[in-house]
Parts: sequence; structure tokens; C-alpha cells
Amino acid sequence: MPEPQTRTVVVLAAGEGKRMKSSLPKVLHPLLGRTLVGHVLNAADPLGAARTLVVVGHGADQVRAHLAGIAPEATAVHQAEQLGTGHAVRIALEAAPEVTGTVVVLNGDVPLLRPETVGELVAAHEGEGAAATVLAAEVPDPTGLGRIVRDAAGRLEQIVEQRDATAAQLALREINAGIYAFDAARLRDVLGKLSTDNDQGEEYLTDVFKMLVSAGEPVGVHLAVDHIETLGCNDRVELAALRRLLRDRVNERWMRAGVSLLDPETTWIDVTVALDRDAVVDQNTQLRGGSVVGAGAVIGPDVTLIDTVVGPGATVVRSHAVGAEVGPGASVGPYAYLRPDARLAERAKVGTFVEVKNSEIGAGSKVPHLTYVGDATIGEQSNIGAASVFVNYDGARKHRTVIGSHARTGADNMFVAPVEVGDGAYTAAGSVIIENVPAGAMGVARARQRNIEGWVLKRRAGTAAAEAAERALGGTQGAPVVPSSASEGEPIHGGAESVGGTPEPGDTATE
Ligand code: UD1
Ligand code: CA
Repeated sequence: MPEPQTRTVVVLAAGEGKRMKSSLPKVLHPLLGRTLVGHVLNAADPLGAARTLVVVGHGADQVRAHLAGIAPEATAVHQAEQLGTGHAVRIALEAAPEVTGTVVVLNGDVPLLRPETVGELVAAHEGEGAAATVLAAEVPDPTGLGRIVRDAAGRLEQIVEQRDATAAQLALREINAGIYAFDAARLRDVLGKLSTDNDQGEEYLTDVFKMLVSAGEPVGVHLAVDHIETLGCNDRVELAALRRLLRDRVNERWMRAGVSLLDPETTWIDVTVALDRDAVVDQNTQLRGGSVVGAGAVIGPDVTLIDTVVGPGATVVRSHAVGAEVGPGASVGPYAYLRPDARLAERAKVGTFVEVKNSEIGAGSKVPHLTYVGDATIGEQSNIGAASVFVNYDGARKHRTVIGSHARTGADNMFVAPVEVGDGAYTAAGSVIIENVPAGAMGVARARQRNIEGWVLKRRAGTAAAEAAERALGGTQGAPVVPSSASEGEPIHGGAESVGGTPEPGDTATE
């Protein structure tokens, strides 16, 4: 067994990525939950490197800021001018003179690379005691890539760039993936001797191989089983192709883990998302960021979840959620919008055209239709009438509304915060609630209705409405066929879709 080597990871991320035509540095483009460079760092993570160096240049400040977030242990090394991949590795090692052992170099734009493959490359390299080992792949179309040139015995001779290759070399389909393992000391030796005598006038890292070969050092080639892993990203067409490939990989993994994806081609799951067994994801659904979907939950169709946790057995249909929590057995949508810190307890319901922000909705409570709930706490088993607004903002500050448990608020209510509705309280339909409603009380805050008898017959004579009224009144002008106004003690509650309770005559509830 060879001695365990100290490992250093060097990620090359200074290039501009001209063909992306973007103000964002290429390595910061997102791909299903990580940036390109984030994927590469993730692939190198299990190596347990003592140091991680990231060579930055184009958009260095942006790349540094991103690294501080995703890999605070990594050191950025600034490459002011992009003088080639060899130059980039050279300055990285100059910035870390103490580095010995194995140096693993990864191009920053190879996002489908799997940690297992990097691990196998490094194990092969260290096992052979090689001076350098390159990850290679057989590809259907090698255009633009460096070719692996072997001698008659099949040993690596050199790596030749597309633009420096002979016709015979161009026909080779074995390519350099841009992922390498080196012995630090021998790499340092040759890096100082790189020439710029090539079509691009750059220091090519790939030239290290022919230099080591001619010095009689052992070099190796490790072939990737699946060439897809080695695909680079140079423009947005390639980025989209990589996204589809990664989607398929992620989806296959979840289906094999017991998750049903009804339409995998329209299901986009970030690599950072977790799903439990028997979850069902219907078509046109995106699960992003730190989202988690519990066992047996049903998500979709047409759902986007961002950093949202959905409990077991919950249902989310045609909705958009960001930073929300949906409790076990809760139900959301169709057409709901859950914003940050919307928290639904178990079996709570947020229905159609309902927006919820920074609010807790207690167990079994329902907000069924056409409502905005902002900065509120709703207790258990309460029902919020349709078309209500939690008026949380006075133009300067946000205030909270508290609704107790087993409360039933009427349709078309405004809760002007700060305000509280007690346990078991009711509010009347059409109320603007500006004062607290004590437990068990009925809060009524609306103008009383007045009917002006015969108004249409007099003021709109000859219209279809007047004729209809005349027919209804049996020709006896002005004589009402129904009582025009209710007596004292009228039923005034107007809750939406009830949680038990019988609608009463005159109830203005919605269904
Ligand atoms: C490189 C390889 C090629 C290989 C291909 C795989 C060389 C000379 N060629 O070519 O054999 O098939 O990758 O994708 O290495 N970078 C820097 N500083 C620089 C130049 C590049 O940090 O001065 C970074 C880039 O940001 C990028 C990576 O190095 O992440 C590769 O550079 P790129 O210009 O894309 O190399 P290729 O021409 O694709
Ligand atoms: Ca490239």
C-alpha cells in the first residue's frame, strides 16, 4: 500500500467564458441547485483535501463572494491575466509553496462530474505512484477538445489541443476531460518550463504530460465510464443540454429511491432537494434549493417549490412556494402563493387564489379562497372567510393579526393589524375589523343595509330590470313579495365554506 497522500484541490475558474455572452462569470451560472463551480467543488469534496485553491480572474469579486458562501475553506488565487491553464496552476502552487502530495486539478466548467469518478482517478493515480494522471473519455464528437495521443503500446504520449493537432490526431475520439491528478513536486518542476509556443500563445497545462513522458516519469490515463460526466460548458446551448442530462440523472435516482415522477421530462429537481418514499411529483414541477418533500406527499402538476418543506401526505397543486412550510396532511392550491415563513400546521388548508406570508396557520385551520394572509397567527380549527385581507402594513411598519382557535371569520373581512380575534369568536361578512373581538363574541363592523322600495320601477322605468321587477311583484307596483329588511337579531355571520355549522337565512357566505 502506498503512503496516504496529502491532497490539494485546484479549481480553474478564471476564464471569462466568452461564448456564454454573459455579465455573469461562466462558472457562476446555475445548474439545478448549484453553480458550475459549485458542482465541481462538490465532486472534489470527498477527497478530503487539506487545501482547496480556486483560481479566479474574470469576475473575481463575484466568484470570491460566491466561494465565501459555498466553500469558505477554499482560498481564491487571483490570476490577473488568463495566460492559460498551465499558468493558472503555476500561480496557484506559487501561492501555496507548502503543498506536497497529490494535486488534483479540475476545470471549473465540468459540472456533471461525479465524486466517485474523481475518487477513482485519484486512487488510480496514487496507487500507481504516477507523476500525472489525466481523466479521459471516449466521446462521439471530440471537436474543440484536447486529444489523448498514445504510442503504439497504448501509453500516453501527449495531449494535443484541437487547434494544434494533425489530421490524424483530430480523428482521435479519446479526449482530455480537464480533470487531473499530479504529484506536487514533479508538477512544480515542469510547470516552470512550460512554453507558449502554440496556436493560442498560452501556457498549456496539458503540455505537462509530454514533458513528464520525455523525462521518463510514469503518467497514466484514467478512462471515465460515462463520457457525459466529462462534458464541459462553453455556451448556453451546452448549458441547457447539461441541465437536461443532470435532470435525467437526478430523476432516475429519485425514482429508484421510491419516488413517483409522473412526467420526468417536465420535472426539474435541484441536486440539493430531498424526497421521501412514495412522494408523487406530477408534471411541470420544479423543486428547488433546500426543498424537502415528505413521504406520500403529492406535488403538482404545475408547482414550483423553492426552499420549501412539505410534510408527509400533504398536497400541493398548481402553486408557487418560497421559504414556506407545509405541514403533514396539509393542502395547498390550486393557485396558491406561499411566501417566506408561511407555515401551515398539520391538515391546514390554503386554497385557491390565496397568498400567505410570514404567518402560522394552525392545525386543521382553513383559508379556502381569495385571501391575503400576511403577518398573522391563526390558531387551530379556524376558518377564514373568502376574500379577506390581513391588512398588515400602515405604510411605515408591519403589524400582526392574531386569530384564535375555532374562530370563524366572515367573508370579505379586513383585519386591520394590530388586531386580535379570540378563540371561538365569529365576525360578520363584510366587516372591517379594527378592534379586538373577544373570545366567543360576534364582531360586526359594517354599515346596515337600507332598501329603497320601488326605486327601479320609478327611476329605470321601461328597462328590462323594471319589467322583471314588475313581473316578480305581480303587477302590484311597490308591494314587496319578500320582507325587505331583517329584524333585530338577524343572522349576520358570513363565513366561507364552513367548518361544520349550518348556513342561516340571510347568510352571505360563499361556497
Ligand atoms: C481545456 C484543455 C483541453 C480539454 C478541455 C476540457 C488545456 C490547454 N486544454 O481546454 O485539453 O479537452 O479543457 O474541457 O488545458 N482557465 C483559467 N485560467 C486560464 C485559462 C483557463 O482559470 O488562464 C480555466 C477556465 O476558466 C476553465 C478551465 O480553466 O474553467 C479550462 O479552460 P478553457 O479555456 O475552457 O480550456 P479549453 O480550451 O476548454
Ligand atoms: Ca472549456
